[in-house]
Amino acid sequence: MLTDNHGRPINYLRLAVTDRCNLRCFYCMPHEGIEFLPKNHLLSYEEMIRLVSILAKMGISKVRITGGEPFVRKDLMAFLWKLSEIPGIEKINLTTNGVLTAPYVPELKRMGISAINLSLDSLDRKRFLEMTRRDELPNVMKTYEAILEHNIPLKINSVMMAGKNEEDIFSLIELARNQAVDVRFIEEMPFNGEGEKPEYFLSYQKILDKIKSQYPGISKIQDEAFSTSYNYNIPGFKGNIGIIAAYSRTFCGTCNRMRITPIGDLKTCLYADASLNLRDLLRNNADDELISNKILNAFQHRAKDGFEAENQRSSTIHESMTTIGG
Ligand code: 5AD
Ligand code: SF4
Repeated sequence: MLTDNHGRPINYLRLAVTDRCNLRCFYCMPHEGIEFLPKNHLLSYEEMIRLVSILAKMGISKVRITGGEPFVRKDLMAFLWKLSEIPGIEKINLTTNGVLTAPYVPELKRMGISAINLSLDSLDRKRFLEMTRRDELPNVMKTYEAILEHNIPLKINSVMMAGKNEEDIFSLIELARNQAVDVRFIEEMPFNGEGEKPEYFLSYQKILDKIKSQYPGISKIQDEAFSTSYNYNIPGFKGNIGIIAAYSRTFCGTCNRMRITPIGDLKTCLYADASLNLRDLLRNNADDELISNKILNAFQHRAKDGFEAENQRSSTIHESMTTIGG
């Protein structure tokens, strides 16, 4: 079983299948001047299936499909079916912005998808447009409804920003009142494609204080193992409320994840440089054993947390979340 140099088991892969997206969330992408990767730079679906098959033998049992927006890549569903047939892969989760997802929800249910994370920063159409630079809230809500209707476990992910969508926190929380929807608020991270520090940073403590001001009865619940969020329940609510200290990096101690970017870079941490490029290995006809050894080796040089990883970088952060995988 794959374990890092700090004794942490690695059983969870976050696989970004594209860097493209049909939204332009301002904390993720610059307004213009975005250069998407040429297609042949991306891992092909066949290459991804091969990698996940190797990783499954090394102990990866859960895969999250992310991007960019996964559904802007052609033939995603056929790929997901193949992925779901790989022995050892017990859970497939999906992160999506929901713009194109609704029609696929029944098929995702049939496939046995474990859970869906829907990125949604505001329920107000105007503010949604301001944040994502696209007027797509109605389509996202269709996806939201479809997921609930098909009883797929659903988490809402909202990046919280001071003076931007701060006030939306309350309407988003209300989603968890009558439905078993978990609503999670995420600290802004510096992955906006412009190399800038989070501009509208709202710390997890501030987010929590804000929630407490309206919901004084909120109480801490036990977090699941390897959880990145602090989780809470409000009396009478069916869903839970979570806060992810993505910038404060409070969860690194139990990190069980690896990331593969759209071009096949292996990252042992969100904040780290790539350890190696798997696509080049694959295209140079490396056999499974060589690939697993390279991956094993990368995890023997893993930073202990996201701060150490950031300090060890060769350059400052300039990536967009779309080239890393959210
Ligand atoms: N900070 C925090 N979260 C971000 N995401 C994208 N960019 C950032 C950022 N700069 C989130 C999206 C989505 C997930 C894929 O990553 O909102 O929920
Ligand atoms: Fe697209 Fe997600 Fe980035 Fe928004 S945060 S631009 S939905 S990849």
